[in-house]
Amino acid sequence: MPKILVTGGLGYIGSHTCVVLQQAGYEVVVVDNLVNSKPEVALQIEKITQQPLAVEVVDICDAHALKGFFEQHSDLDGIIHFAALKAVGESLAQPELYFNNNVGGMLQLLEQSPKQLPIVFSSSCTVYGQSEVLPLQEDFLFQKAESPYGSTKQMCEDILRFTAPKQQRKVIALRYFNPIGAHPTAHIGELPQGVPQNLVPYMTQTAAGKRPKLNVFGATYNTPDGSCIRDYIHVMDVAQAHVKAIERQLSQRQVEPYEAFNIGTGKGHSVLELIHLFEKATGVAVPHAIAAPRVGDVVAAYADTQYAETTLNWKAQYSIEQALQDAWAWEKAAPNE
Ligand code: NAD
Ligand code: UFG
Repeated sequence: MPKILVTGGLGYIGSHTCVVLQQAGYEVVVVDNLVNSKPEVALQIEKITQQPLAVEVVDICDAHALKGFFEQHSDLDGIIHFAALKAVGESLAQPELYFNNNVGGMLQLLEQSPKQLPIVFSSSCTVYGQSEVLPLQEDFLFQKAESPYGSTKQMCEDILRFTAPKQQRKVIALRYFNPIGAHPTAHIGELPQGVPQNLVPYMTQTAAGKRPKLNVFGATYNTPDGSCIRDYIHVMDVAQAHVKAIERQLSQRQVEPYEAFNIGTGKGHSVLELIHLFEKATGVAVPHAIAAPRVGDVVAAYADTQYAETTLNWKAQYSIEQALQDAWAWEKAAPNE
């Protein structure tokens, strides 16, 4: 049974990935400092998989603690690295925090972990910025980052691309588009702290009556209905992509030291479309109004998924309706913050 370290494994995407890894027969050990997650998530994961989950509360920026962790777990076969801070607005207010945690944390991970361990890294479609050409392909050049958060993803990818051959590691960067939804059991999902910044949690909280209305940030963009377009993907599909990446590495099918794959559905949906799809899929209304555009938003982004399909042998399986229904089920089940 291969043993995988999942950093940030109690977070939104990490928790779903722990579930699919355990269900695929992997032994999982989580490292998380709980800066944006709760220890109870481990129990919820265990409830779904009916398997014990090993969790160690460690900050990956803490060299001493991380060294101790790797000494204690000398039998690892791979690393999936989620641990990072991810709030774009907060990153603009506290850039040092984001560079220290996201870049500094990953450098510690590279320093302290055995060099032969392959790494799967959480990247983002944010690395592409606003592209004139769509769908986005993996070999497009990075545009200048709009936020320190986006910059940390570009920097981490660059660090991994240059160090992988030197360390003789295999590294796969997965560039997620917009992960939404929750586990179909509604035992785990996204736990936004305070006012949600992302569209779907804001939408479900509005549908639940926790917020009076959803603001649609801009409706005069150069898109069919004027609102921004994104590639929304079920978090379970995102989780599954990590199993495919680890399988590829452990079965020695990864030839190049560094590979990057788009993890999206290939389909773009506008904000207004998503509201209507949610209302149709759940039968619940989302009061909304057009508001001013949000600074820094790209107009449209969706993935070319060809490379992931042919090389990673991965393709999104869940429909957008299912993702929205699961997001709504989670909203109704989730513990109140
Ligand atoms: P999340 O905040 O829910 O999960 C991140 C986890 O990492 C949390 O449990 C947090 O406590 C932990 N963590 C943060 N810093 C740490 C540190 N120094 N040491 C140990 N643990 C630490 O975020 P998520 O949505 O699950 O995102 C996971 C990864 O995917 C992140 O790297 C994020 O940047 C990336 N990503 C997310 C999205 C998205 O829309 N959710 C999109 C693209 C990329
Ligand atoms: N939006 C609204 N109203 C809201 C929130 C969002 O209209 O209340 C709109 C945004 O303007 C955007 C779309 O909904 O057009 C999606 O916005 P999100 O904030 O949900 O997602 P983003 O595409 O802006 O960014 C997210 C994460 C980033 C990540 C990126 C790509 O926040 O960290 O997806 O994975 F990099």
